[in-house]
Amino acid sequence: MVRRVVVTGASSGIGAASVRRFAELGWETVAVARREDRLRALAEETGAHAVVCDVTDEEQVSRLAAEVAATGGATGLVNNAGGAIGTESVEHSSNDDWRRMFEVNVLGLRAVTAAMLPVLREGARASGWASILNLTSTAGLSAYPGGGGYNAAKFAAHAVTEVLRLELAGEPIRVMELAPGLVHTEEFTLNRLRGDAAAAERTYADVIPLTAEDVARVLVGAFEQPPHVNQDLITLRPVAQSSVFHTHRGPLVPKG
Ligand SMILES: NC(=O)c1ccc[n+]([C@@H]2O[C@H](COP(=O)([O-])OP(=O)(O)OC[C@H]3O[C@@H](n4cnc5c(N)ncnc54)[C@H](OP(=O)(O)O)[C@@H]3O)[C@@H](O)[C@H]2O)c1
Repeated sequence: MVRRVVVTGASSGIGAASVRRFAELGWETVAVARREDRLRALAEETGAHAVVCDVTDEEQVSRLAAEVAATGGATGLVNNAGGAIGTESVEHSSNDDWRRMFEVNVLGLRAVTAAMLPVLREGARASGWASILNLTSTAGLSAYPGGGGYNAAKFAAHAVTEVLRLELAGEPIRVMELAPGLVHTEEFTLNRLRGDAAAAERTYADVIPLTAEDVARVLVGAFEQPPHVNQDLITLRPVAQSSVFHTHRGPLVPKG
């Protein structure tokens, strides 16, 4: 069986960069997101099979898994669809925003994983192995003021990843997690700050963040390891960010 990977959240940022990187290394890819025009453009560029799917809708997710199975199956899954809404405190945030973050970052990840597991098992039967990687965040490992619902959702996604690894023990399916820090993508912070472009740009001012391509190289690198090697948790930050609380702005210079 050829190597074929399903990437959710592929219409922008890290997901799109990952599809490009997988394709460069000879993988067949299935690119999944809600915005069809962007997926079509990526499909034309990379040869990806595009599937329009809202990961928070379980019927659409079932159809996604059926389409993947009918068009060549899969040996890999990247649960990347996700995002943050707002930076308000626990006291001043809203359950509506928190619900939307849980829907996509946690329940969507669970639904896609559950629907895809039989397809991945078929892939593992045919080729020996299969891989799942969940894109969480350093926000899923360290809380920070204003992190609220995003912290809670990504901590939950981190926990689900650990549960899944334990539940799949004994199967030839590795379960990996990639937790990036600050990544400058086109839409993530813009969405988080509810479309305030100037504030979004300030997040990245005078700092060298990760790019989507940086993350994609590491992400795809985890799939390129020998299949018995499971990188349980990869934490990835720019050199300028030593923790969620320490982002260095200005040039990086040797001390002394
Ligand atoms: N940027 C960062 O600083 C950063 C840091 C750490 C972790 N992360 C995580 O990395 C992942 C990708 O982030 P990014 O920076 O690449 O963000 P992005 O550019 O905003 O991309 C998010 C992707 O998720 C898709 N998506 C959102 N809701 C969806 C839904 N209900 N169903 C299907 N697809 C959906 C979006 O496509 P459609 O709108 O077309 O559906 C888009 O392709 C996210 O899980 C994010 O939380 C980001």
